[in-house]
This record gives sequence, structure tokens and C-alpha cells, in this order.
Amino acid sequence: MIKFGIVGLGRIGQVHLQNIQQYIPDAQIVAACSGSEQSLSFAASAGVKALYTSFEKMLKETSLDAVIIASPTALHFEHLQLAIAAGVHIFCEKPIDLTLTNVLQIKDLVEESGIKFALGFNRRYDPNILKIKRALEENRLGVVQTLRLISRDPGPPPMEYIKTSGGLFLDMAIHDFDLARYLMGSEVTEIYTTATIYGELPLETVGDVDTAVSILKFENGSLATVENSRNSTYGYDQRVEVFGSKGLMATKNKAEDTVYSADDQGFHSTKPLKFFIERYKESYLNILERFVQCIKNNSKPEVTQYDGLQSLLISLAAKKSQIENRTVALSEIN
Ligand SMILES: NC(=O)c1ccc[n+]([C@@H]2O[C@H](COP(=O)([O-])OP(=O)(O)OC[C@H]3O[C@@H](n4cnc5c(N)ncnc54)[C@H](O)[C@@H]3O)[C@@H](O)[C@H]2O)c1
Repeated sequence: MIKFGIVGLGRIGQVHLQNIQQYIPDAQIVAACSGSEQSLSFAASAGVKALYTSFEKMLKETSLDAVIIASPTALHFEHLQLAIAAGVHIFCEKPIDLTLTNVLQIKDLVEESGIKFALGFNRRYDPNILKIKRALEENRLGVVQTLRLISRDPGPPPMEYIKTSGGLFLDMAIHDFDLARYLMGSEVTEIYTTATIYGELPLETVGDVDTAVSILKFENGSLATVENSRNSTYGYDQRVEVFGSKGLMATKNKAEDTVYSADDQGFHSTKPLKFFIERYKESYLNILERFVQCIKNNSKPEVTQYDGLQSLLISLAAKKSQIENRTVALSEIN
């Protein structure tokens, strides 16, 4: 039995907690730390006995094999340092941190420590994406020439969250940039991003945007476009298309149900699933199951600190490109 602690029990922390407690028999959450009483009672109701408001205290007082870091991004650096010093394996939510210096420091510390480190790029573990990846590995699509990722949220998070989360590029599009690297099997060399604001939030006051289009160029010469919006009126829009020399493969949105109707206005069907918790349900369980297996079998996690670094570089380059209105090479980010 792998004994886990968790820090952060908000939107995503609660998903991880429930997945471990209910669906992963080889693991159990024995300690939880959060900033709110309400989320600690949620952990208690899920059978967690040791409850804390200090992560440092939790690490000192409980005997853990691994931790899940699902605290706000602004706390990851501090929580990661504490967990590495405690010698526990780490599953950390994305992004590792918002600055290159801190991410490089964490990468070095993880590599020196020998602990297992996995990063929460869950979309890689979505069954649709796994199917496309398998086709790519078996060369069924030939040479991948372009990728097209559409990623639109049903609404923006509150300003309070946006202020410290890293904004559209470092908090949201970072998932798409990671997915593009994963599917292409090649690293991004340069990016051009243009962006604007359509929603009602005063995003310009915090240097953020809600609508962006990025063009990525990879080491292998292939291209990708990533289209992001925070304002999709019809729900969470998550589509991927891979175009190769032998054909294409694509994923549609997953709908709330498969019922459709027809009338004199045309054919009608249900909206896509509401948001990430519903749409990527299976992937959140799959990614944690894989991490638990890595610990049990002493094997290397698939999404690591290296992926955290590469995705951060692309996100920082996207932001720089948007601000400076020019193509930015990843080698410029330092
Ligand atoms: N992989 C994904 O799909 C995904 C989805 C959402 C969020 N995330 C990431 O997960 C992280 C958390 O995001 P969220 O949306 O769940 O945030 P949230 O604001 O909903 O939850 C944050 C949690 O951290 C707790 N917290 C705050 N300060 C704390 C402290 N000092 N010590 C311990 N706990 C503290 C809060 O009480 C809360 O329980 C972020 O890094 C975010 O980027 C990933």
C-alpha cells in the first residue's frame, strides 16, 4: 500500500483525493493539508485521518511514501522544496512554477534526490489521446505535418485566481503546448502568438488575455496551431486533429449524452461536457494509477520535470511573442 499525503483540496485536489480513495486499491491518502476548514472536512469524510493546515508539519508528523501537490501554483515552489527535502515521491499539478529559475532549481533538486516526480499533464492520459498516440507510434499516420488543437473554456476563472495562476498561457494553454509536444514527439523551436480580450473581465489590468492563437514550429520541421478561448458559450471545447502523410486522426468533443433531435430548424444534439473535471475524468484517474504503478515497480514516470520545463519555455515564449508581436525562438527564453 502506497501511503499518500495531499496538499491543496480545491477543484483538482478533491478529484485526486477521491480517485485514490475510491479507485486505486494500491494507494491510500492518509494525510491531507489545506487552507480551508471546509476542504479538510471533505478529506475527513473521505476517510483521511491526519488533517493539517501546515504542509511542513504534515511532512514532519506523518510517515508518507508520496505526496500530491495540488495547492495554488504560487505555492508549488515552496511545497516542492519541502517534499523533496522530506524524500517523498511527488505528483505535482501543472505548472511546476511560473519562473524559469525556480523550475530549473526544482528539476535539479528532483534529479539529485532520486525521488519519482510526475507532473499533472492529465490530457496525455485521455483515452482518445492515447488512441491517437498509439496510431502515431505505429506510424499509421505517416509523417505528421500539422497538428491543430482547439481548447476553449466555458468561462474564465475569477480574477483572484487569474492574478496568481500565470494567466492564459502559463495556466491554461500550457496543457495544449504539452499535448502538442507529446503528439508531435518533437520539441518546439519557435512560436508566434497573437491574442486579444473579448470577455468582460479587466484582464488588461493584470497583463492577461482571453483569446489567443499560436503557431508552433518543431525541431522536425512540422507545425501546430493552438487556439485558446476562455469564453465558449456552448461549453468546454476540446478538439485535436493530427494531419500526417498517410491521413488524419481527430477527436471530437464528448457530449453530455448522445441524444439528438430534428425539426424544421435542423438537427440538434447536446452540448459538450461542462468542464475539465467532467471531460477529463478518466485521464485524472489514469495518470494517478500510472504514478502509483511507477512507485510500486520502481519505474520512471512518463511526464516529468523535463516536460514541466519544456512546457514552461513554450508558455513564456508565447507570452513574449504576444507582447512583442513577433516570432520568438525558445532559445531566447532565459
Ligand atoms: N491538471 C488539471 O487539469 C488542473 C485543473 C485545475 C487546476 N490545476 C492546477 O492545480 C493547482 C490547484 O488548482 P485548483 O484549481 O484546484 O485551485 P483551488 O483554488 O480550487 O484550490 C487550492 C487549494 O489549495 C489550498 N491552499 C491554499 N493555500 C494553502 C496553503 N498555504 N497550504 C495548504 N493548502 C493551501 C486551498 O485551501 C484549496 O484547497 C494549480 O496549480 C492549477 O494549475 C490543474
